[in-house]
Amino acid sequence: MGRKKISIIGAGNVGASCATWITAKELGDVVLVDRVQNLGKGKALDLMQAAPVLSSDITLVGSEGYEETAESDVVVITAGMPRKKDPVTGQWTSRNDLVKTNQEIVGQVSREVAKYSPNAVVIVVSNPLDAMCHVALAETGFPANRVIGQAGSLDTARYKAFLAMELGLSVRDIHAIVLGGHGDEMVPLPRHTSVAGIPIRELIAEEKLQAIIERTRKGGGEIVGLLGTSAYYAPAAGTVEMVETIVRDQKRVIPSAVYLKGQYGYENLFIGVPAVLGADGVEKVIEMQLNDEEKAMLEISAKAVRDVVGVLGY
Ligand code: LAC
Repeated sequence: MGRKKISIIGAGNVGASCATWITAKELGDVVLVDRVQNLGKGKALDLMQAAPVLSSDITLVGSEGYEETAESDVVVITAGMPRKKDPVTGQWTSRNDLVKTNQEIVGQVSREVAKYSPNAVVIVVSNPLDAMCHVALAETGFPANRVIGQAGSLDTARYKAFLAMELGLSVRDIHAIVLGGHGDEMVPLPRHTSVAGIPIRELIAEEKLQAIIERTRKGGGEIVGLLGTSAYYAPAAGTVEMVETIVRDQKRVIPSAVYLKGQYGYENLFIGVPAVLGADGVEKVIEMQLNDEEKAMLEISAKAVRDVVGVLGY
């Protein structure tokens, strides 16, 4: 088994941060594509020069086109407009505001990816996330197990970070999961959250827990409010967690946007669920036993996703 090849489409903040961690973790050779002249090339070369310091034996190249990406094992799609804060009104774009613009960008990228890397596993990061997964699935023509959306790894990481900050405990002992679409209706699951197996509700007051759940749901917006543009370190960390489990065939359980075919009662819809990720992409969807309240929250989230997907016109 040779070295894995990982292409990242979009050398902006998220794409470049993904390349940085892929280099640090020595996950495979990287092609960093950006249509902006020299952007991918420059960042790839910069990271190539970081590799000796990190003792990372990988190569990185940049390009404006897709030829270099041929036969990638994994392709990460980050291309698209990010959320932004309007300097005049102070309002920030919602993920859903981006739908038509990013449909065009992600659609075009997906066709190139399918042409050059017909066997790749595609990880979609562009927003609005769940809808862009539908675009990538339709435009690559790939089987659904090879198109996965990055959302749950990020949303769960935010939830864990807030819990660790509140409790003053190691993030390593916090186990948790967030389901649903990557929007403000996402569904953190306190009943399935623990500290080293101890149910979270034994350790935190209900109102604090609810505040953390709310902060998690709005976690992306909080960063846009601070930076004026989308988050990128945590989104990239979440993405690289998925890349790692795929290229190392680890079969980790990572909440991911997956195309459901009846699981959880949903048909033909990308939504965040616990998924076993390995060399074949989504190798299994784990169906948790949700109670009525959890099911109702998932339905609200699914409806929000369906409304955006409806705009795509597929
Ligand atoms: C976030 C945006 C990138 O959640 O969706 O930070």
